[in-house]
Amino acid sequence: MPSTTTSPELTVPDVTVGAKPRVLSGIQPTADSFHFGNYLGALRQWVDLQREYQPFFFIADLHAITVEQDPKVLRERTLRAAAQLVAMGIDPARSAIFVQSQIPAHAQLGWVLQCLTGFGEARRMTQFKDKSAKGGEGASSVGLFTYPVLQAADILLYRPHYVPVGEDQRQHLELTRDLAQRFNHRYKKTFRLPEPYILKATAKITDLQEPTAKMSKSSSSPAGIVELLDDPQVNAKKIRSAVTDSGSEIRFDPDEKPGISNLLTIYSALSDRTVTDIEEEYAGRGYGELKGDLAELVVDFVTPFRDRALELLEDQQHLMDILETGRRQAAAIAEVTLRDVFQRVGFAAPARSTGL
Ligand code: TRP
Repeated sequence: MPSTTTSPELTVPDVTVGAKPRVLSGIQPTADSFHFGNYLGALRQWVDLQREYQPFFFIADLHAITVEQDPKVLRERTLRAAAQLVAMGIDPARSAIFVQSQIPAHAQLGWVLQCLTGFGEARRMTQFKDKSAKGGEGASSVGLFTYPVLQAADILLYRPHYVPVGEDQRQHLELTRDLAQRFNHRYKKTFRLPEPYILKATAKITDLQEPTAKMSKSSSSPAGIVELLDDPQVNAKKIRSAVTDSGSEIRFDPDEKPGISNLLTIYSALSDRTVTDIEEEYAGRGYGELKGDLAELVVDFVTPFRDRALELLEDQQHLMDILETGRRQAAAIAEVTLRDVFQRVGFAAPARSTGL
């Protein structure tokens, strides 16, 4: 356990001080690297939330095992995800960053909420339908079926005001609110009803080789996806070899020109310039120039990101300290909620409290 490897001088800032509204979100450690699709589409917005909110960000390893994982790979990916969150600007002094499985209260509250969830209610979750469609329902784990209920527990434990997620998670948030309301009604008001904070798809990034399809770890070919921890020169090459459209005009038009439009979206996201501004700059110039310049921009962006992340992965002590701090901050809050829940449900308390 990290506690044995933690520096003794580790201080744990009290995240309840200052009382900014709380936000909470999680990401599954199911890839070796974040890619442009999830980074520019959603994760990048987590960084900005730190200004106005008190964030809790966690690596959802309990959720990851709803489908089979190689243990060694899962552990490695959990640390890689944590390192990337820090590298992209999630500041451990402002945000609690932690690993879900290190807080037993998630699974414990998950069980209580499973007992409040109707079978039919769980069956209506479209993500389960989609994910189980491949191998058939019979081949899916019960964990995959109850995945959204565990997600509700993740959220409700911390009583957050907002949950920043992509549009695909909206239904899970509705379930979370329903379960919170049901518990509050059946027992006593315990949970805050969290508001979804649906991240605007400011940047919808598509596959570089198949620009009408989403850039995605599960469906994109290696050449179609920019992985942030990859060699920057490999990523530059992928940009230069991106599929472009017929014609030669550099114009944002996702229907007629999906390839160029995707490159313009990435360009805009990385340079903080508007697409119109970029279109103007490239008026009368060729695709090759746009790609060459974008490849450079990509290298300038991914190089320092990757260096920071790899440095953290080499200096595991520092990363472990960050996660241990996050664990303690999260545990302090989760344990209090769980104690209330257990008491209200009617569980007999142990004679002596074990503390946090
Ligand atoms: N289901 C989320 C996703 O796949 C990950 C997740 C797990 C999550 N628990 C959460 C997101 C709690 C927000 C809050 O993206």
